[in-house]
Amino acid sequence: MPKQEIEIPKVWIMKNPLKFPAFVKNPIPTFLKLLKEHDGLCQIKMTQRYAYMTDRPEIIRHFLQKNHKNYIKTSIVKNSLKKQIGNGLLTSDGDYWLKQRRAIQPGFHRKRLEAISHIMIREINDYLDNIMDAYAESGAVFDMHKEMTHLAYKIVSKSLFSGSLSDEKLDLIEETINSAQEQIVNEVRQPFMIPWLWLKGDIRKTNLLRKEADEEIYKAIRERRESGEKHDDLLDMLLETEYEDGTGMTEQQLRDEALILYVAGHETSANAMTWAWYLITSHPEIEEELLKSSYDILGNDSPSFEKLRELGYSLQVIEETMRLYPPAWITDREPLEDDETEGIRIKKGQDIIALIYSVHHNAKYWENPEEFKPERFTPENKKKHVPFSYLPFGGGPRLCIGNNFALMEMQFVLVEMVRRYKFEIIKDQQIELNPLITLRPRYGIKMKVSNG
Ligand code: HEM
Repeated sequence: MPKQEIEIPKVWIMKNPLKFPAFVKNPIPTFLKLLKEHDGLCQIKMTQRYAYMTDRPEIIRHFLQKNHKNYIKTSIVKNSLKKQIGNGLLTSDGDYWLKQRRAIQPGFHRKRLEAISHIMIREINDYLDNIMDAYAESGAVFDMHKEMTHLAYKIVSKSLFSGSLSDEKLDLIEETINSAQEQIVNEVRQPFMIPWLWLKGDIRKTNLLRKEADEEIYKAIRERRESGEKHDDLLDMLLETEYEDGTGMTEQQLRDEALILYVAGHETSANAMTWAWYLITSHPEIEEELLKSSYDILGNDSPSFEKLRELGYSLQVIEETMRLYPPAWITDREPLEDDETEGIRIKKGQDIIALIYSVHHNAKYWENPEEFKPERFTPENKKKHVPFSYLPFGGGPRLCIGNNFALMEMQFVLVEMVRRYKFEIIKDQQIELNPLITLRPRYGIKMKVSNG
């Protein structure tokens, strides 16, 4: 134990029930205020138990990286997420997680990403030819968040199952995921509503949908296995995965990991791309630079895996977008044993939350943090970042396994769209954060588009 233990301030958030609705709607302002008042570390209680909450990079580094073995995913993940999407990379801990991570990580190698890049570019162009072109022709107002969600969904589902599931079946899986997510958020934020959700039939509906979606995923896995066909997609990657003893995954494991890649790899990228377009259209000089740099490298050609390195400015724009709007705005862990770091005692069993949003908006680590400045992410400037002050993909051994997949996808989307279209943001609309599991815009982001 530390010689001189530091007292960590305690705050009971629900003490004033009048503030509850505003907190449930968006807890970020309350969290930011608390962390500012308490120098980046406090203990908060919502309903029953206290949890530590911090935005101090050195503490976050401690529990995500330095002493990560002492920390497991919290009961939210174990009770809610695992129940909905299964036991796999995102939701497991300890030896099972390590075994899965060791087996799956090599599957995300360069050659696989290169093969997937062709699927991505095909899907992006198909989407732009069929949907965005129609908006450009009609001049109709559309919601960029809805569109980017649709596009990200198409990209991840085709990268997973390429030709193995029809669009109709993929829609069923999308509906299942949306309904499961809604249920998780309700369980976490308003646990007292659960009996009512049962009575209303919402929980039963989610369970039925999941059963149907499961059957389709199992069918796709079986058919792919039996056909022996190679598609060079993420399902092939999972099917080829081998443990150290040379065995592969069972059907149940394949289903769980496939669904997890779906869930983890869909809404996160969609939100990042939506916020990127919001920021780009609000900063004409950055749009100009993005357009120029994309043309300089690609002319009128499609982007490719080989060209990614040269498309550095698009990467900077994405990285800076995820600083201001981190799709995974929060992450948390449960300590297995008592621990200490920076003179602070961390009690066994008391969850610890990293408020990633607050780290990214903190003036201690970012000059003029509210300004959108992609040059913060030039290779030179990146060297100056404080370790663990930028965590869009988490940190330590549980760093996002799909980070290169996501960055490639978002770079392709940005450089394709900026060259084909000119976007205009509709004035006087309400742009507000909606921090669910990921950071969405509450009312979407309305835009118009014309051919660029
Ligand atoms: C902009 C896009 C994305 C963001 C911001 C993001 C963010 C994150 C974060 C913060 C974590 C760590 C969570 C924690 O430590 O508690 C994570 C884990 C994970 N992500 Fe992503 N992600 C993105 C895209 C993707 C994609 C495209 C895939 C798959 C194709 C993916 C698959 C996963 C998986 C499987 C894990 C769990 C890894 C493990 O625990 O071993 N993510 N992601």
